[in-house]
Amino acid sequence: MSPQPQAAVGAPLSRVDGRLKVTGRAKYSAEHEVAGVVHAVMVDASIGRGRITSIDTSDAEAQRGVLAVIHHGNAPKLPYKDNKASNNPPGARLRVFQDDKVRFHGQPVAVVVATSLEVGQHAASLVKVRYDAEHPTTELSKGEPDKPTEYSRGDVDSGLRKADVRLDLTYRLARNHHNAMELHATIARWKGDKLTVWDKTQWVVGTQTELSTVFDVPLKSVRVISPFVGGGFGSGLRCWPHTVAAALAARVVKRPVKLVLTRKQQFFGTGFRPEYEYRLRLGADRRGRLTAMAHELEHETSSYETFTEGVLDPGRMLYSTSNVSQAYRTVPLDVNTPIWMRGPGPATASYVIESAVDELADRLGIDPIELRQRNEPDEDESSGLPWSTRRLRECYTVGAREFGWERRSAKPRARREGDWLIGMGMAAGVYHTARGAAEAHVRLAADGTAIVETAASDMGPGTYTSQTQVAADALGLTVRNVTVRIGDSLFPPTPPHGGSQTMASVGSAVLDGCDKVRRRAVELAIEDEDSPLHGVNAEDVVVRSGRLHVKGDPARGETYRQLLSRNDLGHLEADGSYAGAPGTERHSMHAYNATFAEVAVDATLGLVRVRRVLGVYDAGRIISPKLAESQAFGGMVGGIGQALLEHTATDHRDGRIANANLADYLVPVHADVPDLKAIYLDGEDREADPLGVKGLGEVVMVGVAPAIANAVFNATGRRVRQLPITAEALL
Ligand code: MOS
Repeated sequence: MSPQPQAAVGAPLSRVDGRLKVTGRAKYSAEHEVAGVVHAVMVDASIGRGRITSIDTSDAEAQRGVLAVIHHGNAPKLPYKDNKASNNPPGARLRVFQDDKVRFHGQPVAVVVATSLEVGQHAASLVKVRYDAEHPTTELSKGEPDKPTEYSRGDVDSGLRKADVRLDLTYRLARNHHNAMELHATIARWKGDKLTVWDKTQWVVGTQTELSTVFDVPLKSVRVISPFVGGGFGSGLRCWPHTVAAALAARVVKRPVKLVLTRKQQFFGTGFRPEYEYRLRLGADRRGRLTAMAHELEHETSSYETFTEGVLDPGRMLYSTSNVSQAYRTVPLDVNTPIWMRGPGPATASYVIESAVDELADRLGIDPIELRQRNEPDEDESSGLPWSTRRLRECYTVGAREFGWERRSAKPRARREGDWLIGMGMAAGVYHTARGAAEAHVRLAADGTAIVETAASDMGPGTYTSQTQVAADALGLTVRNVTVRIGDSLFPPTPPHGGSQTMASVGSAVLDGCDKVRRRAVELAIEDEDSPLHGVNAEDVVVRSGRLHVKGDPARGETYRQLLSRNDLGHLEADGSYAGAPGTERHSMHAYNATFAEVAVDATLGLVRVRRVLGVYDAGRIISPKLAESQAFGGMVGGIGQALLEHTATDHRDGRIANANLADYLVPVHADVPDLKAIYLDGEDREADPLGVKGLGEVVMVGVAPAIANAVFNATGRRVRQLPITAEALL
């Protein structure tokens, strides 16, 4: 930890970029003004599997203003070199317009480029594609699963045999789409063999490497710019076909090209949280101690890539159980490739595990919190490692007290208000603490202002703000005098803005860079005979509001401005870095929560209304309390969506997504969101990273859906083992 006073970190700052956002001056991908830009409109496959037999572009090309219609018959061949430095899953990525094969409904088959969007849209409707269509397989139960990934410890069969209570439960979770407000969009411009793209992405470095390998141009020839992201939830974690299509089109027409996916096209042009079937068998003794857990789960992936996510972790470490087995299968289907979506993995696993544990508690007549307490492990039983910090017990007790858990009736369907059945539920949530290698450049100017540059993104959690807070304290500046610049591949590289690793990774690099600059200034002053700090011990100097002084003797000191100008220095600068997680961890690191929900269910109509949600989080140190609360609320809203509303529906006759719009794909709106409350346990995790943070953007969504599902059971006595819990399911 830095010896610096912490004034900005921990303060409930409003977003430093808030004014830019609410006044519309923050530029999102499609809004950048690029001279001479023309418009690209994608033509999507209208079959779910098969081959293109012909494409007739004559009517489209005859439209005034159409510059090109690009498809597999005329597109330049693209190198598509291997790219290991990306989030591409194993397999062969979709090669845009490189062959006649249709792999899923909606796959891009042509792109029209026109001088106006309207002409482009009209011309795209005139492109006539003929197919040799086959019947696609898009149903999870009809696919051929891949070989499983397996894990086991102990002996599950004997653990189940000796159990006093056994449950064998199968859960189904619908496919979910991220549906951030901002549509995915790309503007691509070539100058010679130098490519610049303005892109909606959560990882400018990833998009940069992908484009450089697709087009086989040097990494340095590709620049990716993405200063603002209007929500992501994971959909921006890899470079999608439309970004390649925009760059390809720009090369063909030799003009900058803008391509904005429509809301409908988001549903097959980017990834999604895959549909799951998850069978969990568990056994417990009469006191509720788990004797065995057997997890068998499968989810969809595409026919060309094998997407997987960290869904197995909670089942191995959340509860103490000697006997655990897991079999995890992907099922290739005629669909596009899934991608991580908020709380990826644990948000799925926790719904299943936490629902089953609630069912077990009910069967045994033990309070669900008490049951969890009885199964609290002393160490990570999957690795034998000690916890860095794990304060789940505290989350339970604080949550129970704050929520009024004692008012819950153990007997379901016991509380009624008119037509409404009222129930309470709770669940635990967990998400591993991820960290990746990151760098930042810090430059302190002679006027006492600083600029921090790092390639990181801000899809909403508030990277600009939280990094400003870290930098301000480490440099000893006020927040106003620090400017953080992010979202540009020209800046020092960072890991993907996902998996809750930005604060730990980028924050630690920013801290390092700022510490270096401050120390350099302190050294300079100490060695400078004209400085009031001459000869002082470096450890005794602190910097506050741009002024260096002796700790405990504020009168003895001088400002950065005085120091730098006397020494004829225009600025001081340093590169900060953070190495990421070590090869071998010595601790098991996770963020945790206990989430509580109260619901009202219309006894006749099956409508579920969430009345209250409370989350209590053990997420390590909180850099930015106001933004942390905003993250928690966002996670709860996402969890309400997952629990009750969100469901991507596929028409299995042709593989078409039937509800690819925001009228039919339901997301929570204001009226669906009740009183929310978030409590962060005060503390830090010294093992995790120099800042002591454990990540919070993902964990806040984990546990919300099962808390709601358990509340629905408590209200109605009905167990619905599927998400979303619809009114139909409750009738
Ligand atoms: Mo988060 S799913 O890693 O954007």
